[in-house]
Amino acid sequence: MTDQIKFKPVRKAVFPVAGLGTRFLPATKAIPKEMLPIIDRPLIQYAVDEAREAGIDQLIFVTGRGKTAIVEHFDTAYELEDTMRGRDKSLEALEPTRIQPGNLVTVRQQVPLGLGHAIWCARAIIGDEPFAIFLPDELMIGRSDGTGGCMKQMVEAYNQVGGNLISVLEVPHEEVSSYGVIDPGKKLDGFGGALTEVKGLVEKPRLEDAPSNLIISGRYILQPEVMRVLENQGKGAGGEVQLTDAMARMIGTQPFHAVTFAGRRYDCGSKTGFVEATLALALERPDMADEVRAMAKRLLGV
Ligand code: UTP
Repeated sequence: MTDQIKFKPVRKAVFPVAGLGTRFLPATKAIPKEMLPIIDRPLIQYAVDEAREAGIDQLIFVTGRGKTAIVEHFDTAYELEDTMRGRDKSLEALEPTRIQPGNLVTVRQQVPLGLGHAIWCARAIIGDEPFAIFLPDELMIGRSDGTGGCMKQMVEAYNQVGGNLISVLEVPHEEVSSYGVIDPGKKLDGFGGALTEVKGLVEKPRLEDAPSNLIISGRYILQPEVMRVLENQGKGAGGEVQLTDAMARMIGTQPFHAVTFAGRRYDCGSKTGFVEATLALALERPDMADEVRAMAKRLLGV
């Protein structure tokens, strides 16, 4: 017997890319942070690939000033392609940048008032459908055992439990104060311990107040009602409209679960995380691994 579809499918993904990227200045003065490459693919490409792997192909970019390169990345580069064809060069590397006409929409966040505000800017396009959110500076790499990427795992969980889901990961307790932290409820049977009820959310708690060491990482599936919560919400921590605050208000009114991602996450919004991701992925690529390993040994003198 085939599974009955119980919940509205997740077909839309919002990519908030209007942040200033101040931690990477001056690199991000003229280039969007999301266009910084991990080896040869910009961060936004990894996020879009993860969305498509999860069966989500309606892409909504919340952009701001200086972010047009992101949209151009997913456009046809006619002159480049024509010249390459004339030189008998393969266009294969450009394949992931191709978008079905009509499947990419941009909205503008004129002033970066916070992640919650950026998501709210997409409300007219979201309408009354559930939607996914990807923070492209958090790079999620799935295992090679077929479990798939983070959003694929989340969509599979969503199809079972519906409602709202966030991806979480465990960090050493002393690090929790830099993140949004969940107050976990009971674990659900049948998901390998990966699905937990969420009883509460706290943004950047003090160590002694942290309800767990499970932090929110940059993937979400939310119900459209969050837009109404954001509509009436003032500024929170850091003077920004916080998505975490809006989600916290939804708890108790709708199902809310956390998915522990079976895979790795790199915080590419930080410089060390970015370097770690570059090294880790280079060491996994058959075309580079040997050379990079030898180079690392040379540099470390081992
Ligand atoms: P970050 O907190 O990483 O901020 O935003 P940032 O501006 O990108 O980078 P730093 O801290 O100045 O170096 C998390 C995500 O939310 C988006 C960002 O683009 C990033 O994907 N964002 C943040 C917006 O789209 N709008 C905002 O007003 C704030």
